[in-house]
Amino acid sequence: MKISERVNQVPPSGIRRFFELAEEMDDVISLGVGEPDFTAPWSAREAAIDSLERGKTSYTANRGMRELREAIAGRAATEYDLDYDPDEEILVTAGASEAIDAAFRAFCDPGDTVAVAQPSYVSYVPGVVFAGGEPLPVPTREADEFRLTAEVLREAGAEEAEALVYCYPNNPTGATMREEHLEPVAAFAREHDLTVLADEIYADLTYDGDHTSIATLPGMRERTVVFNGFSKAYAMTGLRLGYALAPPEAIQAMNRIHQYGMLSAPTTAQYAALDALEHCSDDVQEMRAQYDRRRRFVLSRFAEMGIECFEATGAFYVFPESPWEDAEAFAEALLEECGVAMVPGDVFGAGGEGHLRVSYATGLNELREAMDRIEAFLE
Ligand SMILES: Cc1ncc(COP(=O)(O)O)c(C=O)c1O
Repeated sequence: MKISERVNQVPPSGIRRFFELAEEMDDVISLGVGEPDFTAPWSAREAAIDSLERGKTSYTANRGMRELREAIAGRAATEYDLDYDPDEEILVTAGASEAIDAAFRAFCDPGDTVAVAQPSYVSYVPGVVFAGGEPLPVPTREADEFRLTAEVLREAGAEEAEALVYCYPNNPTGATMREEHLEPVAAFAREHDLTVLADEIYADLTYDGDHTSIATLPGMRERTVVFNGFSKAYAMTGLRLGYALAPPEAIQAMNRIHQYGMLSAPTTAQYAALDALEHCSDDVQEMRAQYDRRRRFVLSRFAEMGIECFEATGAFYVFPESPWEDAEAFAEALLEECGVAMVPGDVFGAGGEGHLRVSYATGLNELREAMDRIEAFLE
């Protein structure tokens, strides 16, 4: 069977390779996965069950249930100061993943360049390649606390790109960007006419103040697509629900792909998401408070061990420097000798070398045990 060149061009995920090793072992504490250890709030699960009991098992509108789009619009307005029309400017998708994929395909012509701020979520580069585009890595620097700057965009030649994709709060570094950091990036995008694809799926998991979306800056709403979803803040990964916020022509284009490829996002999950927005903000607050406790614990333990780590202020990751020069060798030795799994930073692209991604979406007791094991390993 012939497999397309686009597919052959993309290697299997580096995270998976590492976790296949871990799966073969007993007594492994995984600090590797980007998945909340919490269960989705009960009220949202009940809404899903209720929708099934009422026989709500048909497709919804392609763009998602109108009630849900209204709730998303309300939430974006109150939480992130973003105003979007539920009819024209919101698309509900099967996870943020589907929205991201639809955006690459909606905006890329063959050979178009998409600048990818790195280290970054592992799906962007393959997504651009699958869409026929050319990914352009833009390595962020630890000296800038892994924030995207106009300088690194210039150094990478991003003015030639059609679009820029990034995520803040960031996976894998835990970095966040406040308004003053976003301004120069927005100016760069305006000057060079870039479409900005802003993955804000970790927006609710910001620990150093409120999240700012680049779409709220002057002249940015019309050139930005914002991605968000329910997987992270609501611990609803398996329900597969996300969305995009963008000007009408962008949503129309993405919806054209979505309506043929997906038809509509899962109906049961849409009921759960509607309930999550209406009733679960206390659950989100509680999970965020627990993540914050874990974040501070992990950062302080690394500091005690003399492991350099900038202060991650978002998502549920920290990104320490590897105690050994070869981060992959360190991660493998740590896994084999003490059963602690982390992901080598180079898996996330340029700028990630020499680091490790440590997820604290794991209970405090396990984190404590993992940190003790790492300390003992280093002695
Ligand atoms: C930055 C980022 N965007 C998107 C996703 C995927 O989200 P979803 O489950 O909504 O498809 C992830 C999952 O790890 C992520 O880290």
